[in-house]
Amino acid sequence: MTKTILVTGAAGFIGSHLVDHLLAQGHSVVGVDNLRTGREENLRGAMAHEEFTFLQADICDHDLVSRLPKLDIVYHLAAISSVKLSVEDPLAVNETNVTGTVNILRAARELGVQRVVFSSSAAVYGQPEISPITEDAPIQALSPYGASKIAAEQYMHSFRNTYGMETVILRYFNVYGPRQAYSEYSGVVSVFINRALRGDRLIVDGDGLQTRSLIYVDDVVALTVQAATAPGISGEVINVCGAHEMTVLDIANAVLRMVAQTNSTITHGPPRPGDIRKSSGSLDKARELLGVTPQVDFEQGLRRTIEWYRNSM
Ligand SMILES: NC(=O)c1ccc[n+]([C@@H]2O[C@H](COP(=O)([O-])OP(=O)(O)OC[C@H]3O[C@@H](n4cnc5c(N)ncnc54)[C@H](O)[C@@H]3O)[C@@H](O)[C@H]2O)c1
Repeated sequence: MTKTILVTGAAGFIGSHLVDHLLAQGHSVVGVDNLRTGREENLRGAMAHEEFTFLQADICDHDLVSRLPKLDIVYHLAAISSVKLSVEDPLAVNETNVTGTVNILRAARELGVQRVVFSSSAAVYGQPEISPITEDAPIQALSPYGASKIAAEQYMHSFRNTYGMETVILRYFNVYGPRQAYSEYSGVVSVFINRALRGDRLIVDGDGLQTRSLIYVDDVVALTVQAATAPGISGEVINVCGAHEMTVLDIANAVLRMVAQTNSTITHGPPRPGDIRKSSGSLDKARELLGVTPQVDFEQGLRRTIEWYRNSM
């Protein structure tokens, strides 16, 4: 059955892939984004689609609800998603990630939404003591970004408990793929590929033995879509991560090998304060409740991502 769906953060890296997927499934999609880090370019395909409406708006705008149609589902992805920026400007991150989430939940309630799916982060686990991390691990923020995601998660729970709204929280680990922005605030794969394509050094923080469970963006979209429709999972918190753990050094070496014609080399910088040593998530709950698992292995995902950056330089 076709639905009317709101995607916040629609012009961003993951949001734009989600929009494309939902339109291809035949749904009617409203995308909201203030284009802070998102780019209209990411929505080029969607803009040509008659079932897509783009609203350039801030999720903190109290009047946003008056510009939205009646909705079935909300995927709430809009956020300032940089740990580094949250350290520099915690107030701005709180405003968008916490106040913005409350405003979207308030709008969802007014519009009679069936379910809100929220894109949280593995940052809520802080420095985890167990590996792979399961969803019942303690939460503790190492950064204002982590704190903002914990607060937003709590607002999700509160709207479920207070107003009976269906909510699902997804804790994304490290996502990579085409359209991920490249800047000093970006994820490790995007930074390494872009530096390798420019022939610049890949700077690995510390010994490079810190681990990440990377997941390709198409797999994130598949799991996220499932979270809106799987029955009986309201109130659940679910990890969204890759199936394998890799060291940052392995990632750097894989990028150099696959970019091939590059003069780049790997150098080590000082360890980054607060860097998470082991970030490996358990996929058991996602497998059980969503019935989907990541399909794109790292080699394949990396090849597609390198190709995309090469073509868009
Ligand atoms: N990429 C990852 O590895 C990762 C990991 C964990 C969690 N997440 C979460 O997933 C979500 C999507 O991340 P992404 O990587 O696509 O980031 P992104 O920065 O590409 O997308 C976020 C989008 O939100 C928009 N936005 C920011 N502030 C806004 C505001 N006040 N009003 C309206 N729009 C606003 C930005 O312009 C951008 O398009 C975020 O909530 C992020 O915290 C991402």
